[in-house]
Formats: sequence, C-alpha cells, structure tokens
Amino acid sequence: MAEGTAVNVGPIILLGPPGAGKGTQAKRIAERYGIPQISTGDILRSNVQRGSELGLQAKAIMARGELVPDDLVCNMVAARLREADCVPGFILDGFPRTAAQAGWLDAFLEHEFFDNLHADKCLPIVIRIDVDYNRLLQRLTGRRTCLANGHIYNVYSQPPRVADVCDVDGSQLVTRNDDREEVIRERLKAYDLQTRPVAEYYQQKGRLVSVNGDLPVEQVTGQMYWVIEHHGAVEGMSPFYGG
Ligand code: AP5
Repeated sequence: MAEGTAVNVGPIILLGPPGAGKGTQAKRIAERYGIPQISTGDILRSNVQRGSELGLQAKAIMARGELVPDDLVCNMVAARLREADCVPGFILDGFPRTAAQAGWLDAFLEHEFFDNLHADKCLPIVIRIDVDYNRLLQRLTGRRTCLANGHIYNVYSQPPRVADVCDVDGSQLVTRNDDREEVIRERLKAYDLQTRPVAEYYQQKGRLVSVNGDLPVEQVTGQMYWVIEHHGAVEGMSPFYGG
C-alpha cells in the first residue's frame, strides 16, 4: 500500500491511559492510511495557546489533569469531523473519554456522518493500547514534544539525536505542562474513573480490540496495522488481541 494515499478505513478510535502511546501510534496510522489524526488533547492545547474562548474555558481544567466538560469537547469534535478530509476515515486519539462522549459519537456517526457524508457505513475500529501501569509515569515524565509539529520523543526510550531538538524539523522540544508528577496522578485517576467505562461500552458491543502496548513502538504499530487490515475478521483471530 502506497503510504499517504487515502484509504477507506472508516473511523478508528484509540483508547488507552495517559502515556500508553496513542499519539505516537496515531501519527503512524494517519501517515500510512492518509487519514487525519484528530487528537482532542492537541486541539485543546492549541486553543489554550491561542487564548480562544474554548481555550480559556479549558486551560485551568487541563492544568489540574481533569477532563474538559463533554459538551465543549463534543462540539469541538463535531466541527472537526464535518471537514472534508474525514470522509475516507479518521483516527480519534483521546476521544471518546467518557461514556457520554462514546454515546454521543455513536449517534453523530449514525445520524450525521454516515447519512450525509459517507455512503459506506463502516463501524469504528476501537483499539485499546494496554500498558503496564508502572511504565506510564516514566513514559510521561520522559516525554518531549516538538513545538512546531508535535513530533513525540522520550528521553529514556526514544531520545532525539541532539538533546532538545526535533530530528524531523529542528524545532525545540518541550515538556508538556501536564506532564508533572502531581498532574499525571490526577490524569490517571480521571482515566480510571471516567475512561475505563468507555472500553467497557465498546466491549459490550463486541467492538473492542486490545494490543500489547508494552512492546517497542514498531511492534505496537505492527499489531495496529494487522487489526485495521483485518477489520471484521478480528475477533479471536490472534494471540495479540482480545477484549
Ligand atoms: P491528551 O493530550 O489526550 O493526553 P492523554 O490521554 O493523557 O494522553 P497522552 O497524550 O499523555 O499520552 P499518549 O497515549 O498519547 O502517549 P504518547 O504517544 O505521547 O489529553 C490532555 C488533556 O486534555 C486531558 O487531561 C484533558 O484535560 C483534556 N482532554 C483531552 N481529550 C479530552 C476529552 N475527550 N474529554 C475531556 N477532556 C479531554 O507517548 C507517551 C511517551 O511514551 C512518549 O514519550 C513516547 O515517546 C513514549 N512511548 C510511546 N510508545 C512507546 C513504546 N511502545 N515504548 C516505549 N515508549 C513509548
């Protein structure tokens, strides 16, 4: 498959705790299938940086590691999904994150996305990245992100060639404001309380597939490609996968 050519893969949803590797994997999937990565965290951070109305509402909440209210996030996602580049498919990174967001997304896809924009109805592929809890803190405190394009590094596992400089575009690497230990603990709490039920929601519908996120990045990506390219034939087919 020629990398970057848009392929009709439909919606892909990535679930997993903070630091699981959703952003890292979403960028690779987006590139391979030529579809947009829609990261609610990135969109919110960009709003905070620009000082927009949404950014002003979200800033303090994000700094505490809590979740931004559902209605704000759903409106933001709806606006993004109405853009033309989402028609062949898209990858959601960090959304849905509450049971209410998951229900909203199903209704939006059913009543707006498939009806108006996308002739071939195709249920979302929901992939959860499972990672040993003890690794998450090190992944998050070691993360560095490039200012220009959001390329992701890790000082422990994926260091840049030159300290604090992005290999790809030469821009400065920074530590995210919410990657401080006290905020990370709050984000993990929010994940346990509010986002775990989202995985249960999809599991009950028989749509959840898990991949082993403890493996090196390339191997996690390989599992993802397999899931996406065997969509529909996934359940119980490989030792990697299962709800
Ligand atoms: P968001 O930006 O979505 O953050 P998150 O879910 O906490 O996830 P992260 O971005 O921290 O981690 P990731 O899984 O993407 O990991 P990454 O690939 O970077 O949300 C931030 C905030 O915005 C929330 O707290 C909330 O306030 C708000 N928000 C966002 N969405 C919302 C929503 N839907 N509703 C309400 N509020 C919302 O990897 C982490 C590190 O690990 C990197 O350094 C990477 O290099 C390394 N790494 C990745 N994979 C591997 C691997 N396989 N082996 C070794 N290292 C690895």
